[in-house]
Amino acid sequence: MHKRTDTAINLFIDKLDNSGIGISLMQNENVCLVPYTLPGERVKANIINKFKSKMYCSNLEILENSSDRCNKTCEHFTKCGGCLLQHWQYENYKQWKFNLIRQPLLKLTPDIKTLDMISADNYSRRRAKFFLRQDNNSCKLGFKKYKSETLININNCIIIDPEIMEFMSEVKNAFNKSFLTNEILIFHVNKLDYGLDILIQTKKSLRINDLINIFKNFKSKIISIYYQQNNQNPELILFYNKNKLSFGKDNVYGLIPPAGFFQSTKLAENELIKNILNEIQNKNNHVLDLYSGSGTFTLPLLKNSYNVYAIDNNKSSIESLIKSSKEQNLFNNFKYNISNLTKERIETHFFQNFDMVILDPPRAGAITQVTSLGKSKVKKIIYISCNIQTFLRDSIILLSYGYKIKYILPIDQFLYTSHLEIFSVFEI
Ligand SMILES: C[S@@+](CC[C@H](N)C(=O)[O-])C[C@H]1O[C@@H](n2cnc3c(N)ncnc32)[C@H](O)[C@@H]1O
Repeated sequence: MHKRTDTAINLFIDKLDNSGIGISLMQNENVCLVPYTLPGERVKANIINKFKSKMYCSNLEILENSSDRCNKTCEHFTKCGGCLLQHWQYENYKQWKFNLIRQPLLKLTPDIKTLDMISADNYSRRRAKFFLRQDNNSCKLGFKKYKSETLININNCIIIDPEIMEFMSEVKNAFNKSFLTNEILIFHVNKLDYGLDILIQTKKSLRINDLINIFKNFKSKIISIYYQQNNQNPELILFYNKNKLSFGKDNVYGLIPPAGFFQSTKLAENELIKNILNEIQNKNNHVLDLYSGSGTFTLPLLKNSYNVYAIDNNKSSIESLIKSSKEQNLFNNFKYNISNLTKERIETHFFQNFDMVILDPPRAGAITQVTSLGKSKVKKIIYISCNIQTFLRDSIILLSYGYKIKYILPIDQFLYTSHLEIFSVFEI
């Protein structure tokens, strides 16, 4: 049970936890967790919640600064919950993040080869989800506060691609002028080759014509706008161009469904594709691409003459893969399946049909698959993960079946957070 208190206390921050929150160690094994602090700092904090031995605090004031504190933060930092670690000198943050994966892996396999971490630039994120709420004549648009439902107005985000930010300001201006609803609207914006693909989600129904009118005179390059009420199928309400996204450097593209997944930054996408292609040489090889999405890896592999079997549970993604592979004459070497990989375990003998298996699961990892995969002794496994904990959990299982990690490449495409993209190669 969470219990709310409102007591201000002074604390010394001993270290950061793995999510980047400052920890103050108390007597009797209790800890206080204070965001936006650094080791060695003294802070004034307010206890907000208690849960078991943890006291969650808000950061009221830094009483003694760490010399590693960086003051060049974005104007919304500490109000918006998107970034947790802009207040640390960048090199310290980078080293800390690298060690989040490096240190536990060293314990598992002391001779691990970890390549230098590659980092995305500011303003490079190609996907964003933001919230809009109108009341009477004003409109708030932005992201939520850390661990809260409070909506924070955002005028300038240093993570997101400027074209998306520009679109966000246009949305805000337009909704300031015409009132549509007082419920929260959720905007998913994907930046694709020809412009922005937008999905607007609501609970209650909106008048579609009013919504269309809002976007008619926008200067932003919009490809399409979909409207979705209560998890029904997204309805295309405005359409200008194709939902195409070029993958890697081989002149091949995917077709991204409304709010569909693709790598957040071009840098990560290029690195992942390049490293996969480096690991496979024989042109007729068969590759199993688990959690394929709309084909970030499948399509460049097909383009390079490999045979690919793609599996994902998202019907729209697999349908888009079928369409894009047909359009580009890549369908002949392509097989697919729509399947829930959390529930349906692939049999060991099926894995044995492949020269390489790629796993790129969501944050929950691939626990249902790794035992059967480990037993298969497939020559090469590429495991791409965005969650250090589930990656380590699944790696332990693969290592227990005799696999060795050839190398890992950390890619920081989730700047100023504890989230990290990990590319890894397992061989037997
Ligand atoms: C991290 S994304 C990777 C997508 C793709 N590899 C890419 O790079 O664009 C994870 C993918 O797993 C899929 N997914 C999530 N849960 C799944 C499940 N239970 N079974 C199968 N696929 C799932 C999602 O639809 C998504 O496409």
